[in-house]
Amino acid sequence: MGVAAVVPAAGSGLRLGAGKPKALVEVAGVAMVARAVDGLLASGVVDEVIVVAPPEHVEEMAFVTAGRVVPGGHDRVASVALGLAEVGDADVVLVHDAARCLCPSSVVEAVVSAVRAGHGAVVPAIPVADTVRRVDPDGHVVDLVDRTGLLAVQTPQGFDADVLRRAHAAAGDLRATDDAGLVEAIGGEVVTVPGDPRAFKITSELDLAMAEALVAAL
Ligand code: C5P
Repeated sequence: MGVAAVVPAAGSGLRLGAGKPKALVEVAGVAMVARAVDGLLASGVVDEVIVVAPPEHVEEMAFVTAGRVVPGGHDRVASVALGLAEVGDADVVLVHDAARCLCPSSVVEAVVSAVRAGHGAVVPAIPVADTVRRVDPDGHVVDLVDRTGLLAVQTPQGFDADVLRRAHAAAGDLRATDDAGLVEAIGGEVVTVPGDPRAFKITSELDLAMAEALVAAL
């Protein structure tokens, strides 16, 4: 019983170009993965955290984080599955990207509450601010996507542990970009709770600068 969180952090982080795994890149002196783990534990609703690290960086991640660290796989789905295999008897499992390391506790609490209320899969999401257009490979606009009803999905995503295990067991070669996508693929219902702009994903140098500014402002 309880709440476990899996933090997939085994990516190379090439887009950030730091020459090391993105999760080890520091935001104002603290590695993203450490901030993500601390944020989960500080919510007070998470009992254990399992960090999934690049195999060659397990020791380094264990050194900087409070979580238990296990080696990851060849892609995100494989890494989450390896973390999930380490979850003990928790009945709720969160999956949280290390790159969303400034996610506030309120989001973690809202996700866990919604799973506890009986939803098998819960994702935090925020309205899409930009006008969205679909384009062809040459960049020509094909159509305007109606923004009504469009939400951008964040993490931590929360799951009934059995639902997430079934979704991963059925995933096969399916490569969804998030775990809720795997639940949908087995016909499961996914519900949203309000996300938070501070749970943005750090992908670029600009994101990193914004994260540092946010830490300084808090
Ligand atoms: O590369 P991308 O941003 O899609 O990765 C999303 C998340 O999945 C990141 O937190 C990354 O560390 C993680 N990941 C992983 N194992 C991999 C590849 C990516 O845990 N083999």
